[in-house]
Amino acid sequence: MTRLILTALTALTLVGCGQADAGGGSESPPARPAPMAAEKAALLAALPSPYNEADLENGRRVFARCRSCHTVTEGGPNMTGPNLYGVFGRPAGSQPKYDYSAAVRDAGFVWDADHLDHWLENPRTFLRGTKMSFPGIPDATDRRDVIAWLKVETGYAPPAAS
Ligand code: HEC
Repeated sequence: MTRLILTALTALTLVGCGQADAGGGSESPPARPAPMAAEKAALLAALPSPYNEADLENGRRVFARCRSCHTVTEGGPNMTGPNLYGVFGRPAGSQPKYDYSAAVRDAGFVWDADHLDHWLENPRTFLRGTKMSFPGIPDATDRRDVIAWLKVETGYAPPAAS
């Protein structure tokens, strides 16, 4: 009888340990966690109009048109096009390991939502001589949504309130 109780206690202790382990594991997230849904919603709400009204889910769908050529994660590889992490606030054509056309390398502006909107409407007329062979996104709402999605996904941080 005593033996039975001991066995039961051991089993209980083991179950307890297992639970403690699982809990401990989830308390130490990776060093640089991807933004969670709530953080993304907060980032979206902080964007200037009209981007704060964007539909991120649609933005993600629109970005499917870019995925064959672009990665968006931090440190992601350049493919046919450059990695887009950190693109907002970065001078056009300045990703050091990517071989841009002269049109983009010498564009002389810093990427912001306005420039991206014109670029995505029609890359070839916005920067003549670009090698981004993409016909453009004619729909302004799709452009708004994909720009907002990019801001949320590529590490954009709103300027500190002054
Ligand atoms: C067929 C491949 C292809 C597709 C599809 C494509 N791109 Fe590009 N993208 C490129 C290439 C190539 C470049 C470099 C252009 C150059 O140097 O002239 C580029 C450059 C860019 C740049 C400039 C980056 C920098 O560092 O200055 C941005 C921003 C960009 N693309 C966004 C997009 C978005 C958003 C989409 C989808 C709506 C998209 N691209 C679709 C190939 C593509």
